[in-house]
Amino acid sequence: MAVKKQKNYPRKKIKRENKTIPQNLGLNIQKKIKPEIRYLDDIREVLYDKKWAKKAQNVELYYMYRGIKKKGNLSYDITVIPPRMLGKEFVKTYGHYHLKKTQEIYIVLKGKGIFLMQKGKDIIEDVVAIEAKKGEKVLIPPLFGHVTINHGKKNLITANWVDQEAGHDYKSILKKQGACYYYTKDGWIKNKNYKKVPKIRFEKPNKNLDDF
Ligand SMILES: [Fe+2]
Repeated sequence: MAVKKQKNYPRKKIKRENKTIPQNLGLNIQKKIKPEIRYLDDIREVLYDKKWAKKAQNVELYYMYRGIKKKGNLSYDITVIPPRMLGKEFVKTYGHYHLKKTQEIYIVLKGKGIFLMQKGKDIIEDVVAIEAKKGEKVLIPPLFGHVTINHGKKNLITANWVDQEAGHDYKSILKKQGACYYYTKDGWIKNKNYKKVPKIRFEKPNKNLDDF
């Protein structure tokens, strides 16, 4: 199956470099499923460390294998995020809201990561961070925009089950130059582009989630 490009993804014309998809991931992904690659050029605008982002060379940041399995209207995707600092900030996904009011379940397959989720697009009503490691699951509730951060030293590999028609709103994240907090070597830093941002609620992974 060909990988479908996200029509609403604010992709620029970018220089393709370093075809270095991590090898030996131990994942059972059919060869015909090629990953969508996110480059630094794709996410420069949503990074904390603007000075660094201006000068850094374009490199591959993370890899998304979409539609590995399907169940009903749900799709099982895998994302591989190698460890890296983006200047002062830990590597992360671009972040998005869903266009449809739907939830999503993440399962950490390898490594550890932080799932940051936020409700609201200018005035943030709620912001939650959940650190999860191998085998742990995180539920993204409907209407929460979310970002995955690799703050570890190893590859972070996540799987997710999501409605195939959930859709992606990346533009709201772009407008604010990132989610409402950045996770950096100096800890959490509030993104001042939002009108109102509450303190982060730190929660634990969800113990009682079944796989679909
Ligand atoms: Fe999502």
